[in-house]
Amino acid sequence: MSIKPIITVPDEVLKKISDPLDKVGESEKKLANDLFETMYNSKGIGLAAVQVGVLKRILVIDVSSKEEKKNPLCFINPIIKKISDETSIYEEGCLSIPDTFIEIERPKICEVEYVGLDGKLKNIKCDGLLSTCLQHEINHLDGKLIIDHLSKLKKDMIIKKISKDKKNPNRVIV
Ligand code: NI
Repeated sequence: MSIKPIITVPDEVLKKISDPLDKVGESEKKLANDLFETMYNSKGIGLAAVQVGVLKRILVIDVSSKEEKKNPLCFINPIIKKISDETSIYEEGCLSIPDTFIEIERPKICEVEYVGLDGKLKNIKCDGLLSTCLQHEINHLDGKLIIDHLSKLKKDMIIKKISKDKKNPNRVIV
């Protein structure tokens, strides 16, 4: 297992559409393990392969709280089959967009079909944080980011700020 560097905006790779996996073999399992390790290391609750530069439809999630036992979930080729009319709003962050939190309204419940790490086709009905997180990660597989929910002006401002921060790695706030 290894921790991978996480790609951040404005890297164009984040806008690309990921390809489906055609099998779940050793290399796919290794990729899933790397994603879990990278996600836990960054204290994230979800990570899609595109965020480490691999354009494959695979993502990992763990929405368990600190007090709870870890609950690692891996979704391969996930497809949203059903969404509720009822919505919920969470303030979302993203490991690819540092220091940015955006309130986003999404369907409260979603039903998703996916392939598990055992290669079997599965179904899950999600609610609450898991539902929001899974929709956020599936958006990554289609090149969509949380800043795409904002107006162009706001989006450009955020990207400009992050690009500037990247150019000033030694800047300190005291
Ligand atoms: Ni994200």
